[in-house]
Amino acid sequence: MSVSQKIPVSAIQRVQKPIESASGMPNSAYDDPALFEFERDHLFASTWAGLEFASELPEAGYARPVDFMGLPILMVRDHDNKIRVFHNVCSHRGMVLVHEPGPVRKLIRCRYHSWSYDLQGDLKATPHIGGVGHNSAEGFTCEGKGLKEIRSAQWMGIVFINLSGDAIEFSDYIAPLCERWEKLAGKGSIEKLRVGQTDSNMQLHINANWKLAIENYCEAYHLPWVHPDLNSYSPLDQHVNLMINDYMSGQATLNYTLSEVSGHTLPTFPAWPEDRMTEGEYISLFPNLMLGVQIDHVFAIILQPRACDETVEKLQISFVNEAASGVDGAACRSEVMKAWKLVFEEDIFAVEGMQRGRKSPGFDGGVFSPVMDRPSHVFHQWVSRRYEEALK
Ligand code: FES
Ligand SMILES: [Fe+2]
Repeated sequence: MSVSQKIPVSAIQRVQKPIESASGMPNSAYDDPALFEFERDHLFASTWAGLEFASELPEAGYARPVDFMGLPILMVRDHDNKIRVFHNVCSHRGMVLVHEPGPVRKLIRCRYHSWSYDLQGDLKATPHIGGVGHNSAEGFTCEGKGLKEIRSAQWMGIVFINLSGDAIEFSDYIAPLCERWEKLAGKGSIEKLRVGQTDSNMQLHINANWKLAIENYCEAYHLPWVHPDLNSYSPLDQHVNLMINDYMSGQATLNYTLSEVSGHTLPTFPAWPEDRMTEGEYISLFPNLMLGVQIDHVFAIILQPRACDETVEKLQISFVNEAASGVDGAACRSEVMKAWKLVFEEDIFAVEGMQRGRKSPGFDGGVFSPVMDRPSHVFHQWVSRRYEEALK
C-alpha cells in the first residue's frame, strides 16, 4: 500500500480546515511503521531537527554514535572543540564506523579493514590498499572519500541537524524564538547558559508516537486532571496559548514561582523584565523539541523517535550562569528537576493512552477544542502540510 493510500488527501485536507471543523492527523500517521520512515525523510530531514545535547560530547576529541530514526549518525567534537555531525558509515564498504561513544586520540578507525578518518572526517589511512605492505594504490586518492558531513548547528545546548542540506539558514530558523526569549532573558543570555553539575539530565521512554508528545506539550488544557500538583501553583486559568508561527506553538504561564529551598533561590536572568517575573513559556519547536524558559532556568527536551510507537524523551535543564550550576545551587536544582520529572512522568499515561486509542476504528483524527487546542492544531497543520508537499 502506498503512502497516499495510507494517508488519503482528504484526510490531510480535513486537518487544514479552520479549527472548528478540523480533524487531526489520521490513525495511520501514528501507527504505521512505513510512515515512520516517511516522516523521517519528509518531516525531519528537510528542516532543522534536534539530534542530541552538545554536552554528550564531554571533551575535545570525542565521538558519539547516534541512531536518528534508523539512520546511523556520528557526532564528533574535534580537537578545536568544534562539533561536527557525519553519517556514521565507512566510505570503503559501508560498515558502521563508530559503535560506542568515547574519546578519540587522533583518528577514527574502522574495525573492518582499518581505514581511518580524522575528526574533520577526512580519510587519512588505508592500510594495505595496494596489496600487503602498500598503504596507497595507483589511481586511488583519499581525497573526496572522507565521511559525509551533515549540516549542523547549536542553540541552547542542543545540536540540530538538517539532513537534506537545503533548509533555511539555522540563524533564520531559530530567530523568532531566540529574539522572543532574549526579550525575557536578555541578549546573549542563551549562549551563557550552564548545565548543572548534578541533576540536569533525565530520560524517559514512552510507548507512543513522537507526535503525541508534541501535541500534549502544546496545550495546558489537561493540567487540572493530569497535573494536580502543577495546577495548584500554576493553574489552568493562568495559562495562555502561544501561536508563534507555523513551526512553533505552545503555552505560557503567568504564575511561575521561583524554586526555593531553605530560603535559597537560584540566580535569575539579570535582564528579565520586572513586570514579567512570574511568566514562563513552554514552546514546541517542530518537529521534535519541547522547550521551556522561566526566570531562573530553561529546559529542553529532545524527542528521539525510535519507532512509530516508541520515543525517548531526553531532558536537560540549564541555569543562568556558573554560580547557578555550582555546588551552592545543588539543592534548588534538584528541586527544579524533581518538579519537572513529576510533570513529564504524569504525561506518560495520557500520551501512551492516545497511542493505544489510535488502534481503534472508532477514532480517526478526532476533533479539537476551538479555544484550548489551538496550539496543537498549529502542529497538526504543520505535519499535514509536510505530508501534502511530499505526496505531491
Ligand atoms: S568497511 Fe571500513 S575499512 Fe572496509
Ligand atoms: Fe502535561
